Amino acid sequence: MAVLVTGGAGYIGSHTCVELLARGEQIIVADNFYNSKPRVIDMVKEITGKDFKFYKADICDRSSVENIFRENDIEAVIHFAGYKAVGESVKEPLMYYKNNIYSSVILLETMKKSRCKQFVFSSSATVYGIPKSVPITEDFPLGSINPYGSTKLIVENICRDLYDSEPDFRIALLRYFNPIGAHESGKIGDDPNGVPNNLMPIIMRVASGKLDKLSVYGNDYPTPDGTGIRDYLHVTDLALGHVRAIEKVRKEVGCKAFNLGTGKGYSVLEIINAFEEVNGLKIPDFIAPRRHGDAAECYSDPSLAKNELNWETKIGLNEMCRSSWNFAKSQIN
Ligand code: NAD
Ligand code: WQD
Repeated sequence: MAVLVTGGAGYIGSHTCVELLARGEQIIVADNFYNSKPRVIDMVKEITGKDFKFYKADICDRSSVENIFRENDIEAVIHFAGYKAVGESVKEPLMYYKNNIYSSVILLETMKKSRCKQFVFSSSATVYGIPKSVPITEDFPLGSINPYGSTKLIVENICRDLYDSEPDFRIALLRYFNPIGAHESGKIGDDPNGVPNNLMPIIMRVASGKLDKLSVYGNDYPTPDGTGIRDYLHVTDLALGHVRAIEKVRKEVGCKAFNLGTGKGYSVLEIINAFEEVNGLKIPDFIAPRRHGDAAECYSDPSLAKNELNWETKIGLNEMCRSSWNFAKSQIN
């Protein structure tokens, strides 16, 4: 029996494949390389010394998905495949609704037909919209403030409705906060195709000289240094959250959401300072206007994941900054 990992060539997916393989899980990976590169698959094999089946497939293509299920004995699915750029989702909403929602519906339909009932979904802290306070618990009100967030909320609702109608489904909705960092080997990391939108990939571009300066989006928030506060967690810790979620859905029916974060917030300036200090580099920056739709503070209460998944983060900010640069500098050509 194998775990199907969709989007397994991507940033979080590739790190999760490594941790699953390291624990003796059999995996099958599917990705269309929309936002990743084929060499990531070789890197995962190199890091783990293990082989697995890979399908270059679009999860929106029903016949490809049905074929994967026909050719393999799939016990559970971890669904990472999706588009994730908030700004792009505002400009191209239909593209986001189609890819993120349709792929999930096709997968769940095929799973139902194949009697595969264990599903782990990549949700996001974005489903909390602008949170009313921090730290955020899973029972906070949900809402979306952009099309990307709407796709995550809609898929969560699809999963809840599916579970209500089919109570033998076992679904974990993992609400990630802000993953950064890279594998300790330096062989895999965050390597998006095109222009990045998130803070750490942009810091990497400044550090490698591809960008002159970092825009700090606002220093007039009601936070100690005026800049936005987020819950950054190491991608390897996040990957281990998926290992625990698979163990959970193997044991129990249900459809439950879990925050995956550290429970601690850092400001933009704290991230820049930690990155500079750990790597001995200077990141030139300037204060730019606030970015539309940004919350002042967003960090998790991760106690539900600790209690029910037996998961908590272990890796600190310095290692997040060190490993991010260790990977990024190896990509400079
Ligand atoms: P990523 O872009 O690195 O990985 C996604 C992978 O899915 C890519 O390899 C891409 O090629 C693939 N893909 C996209 N559409 C596909 C399709 N239709 N068929 C097959 N493959 C497809 O992104 P990531 O950072 O690894 O994020 C993984 C998931 O986690 C996404 O669903 C994202 O929305 C969610 N998420 C990410 C973050 C974050 O900050 N990175 C935070 C919260 C949630
Ligand atoms: C972090 C902080 C910015 C860039 C987004 C999505 C969320 C999730 C994670 C997928 C904020 C500041 C950023 C820059 C800056 N993704 N910043 N200059 O906005 O918390 O979350 O990614 O689900 O859904 O919304 O992450 O990395 O973009 O920003 O000052 O050039 O860095 O204002 O305070 P965010 P981010």
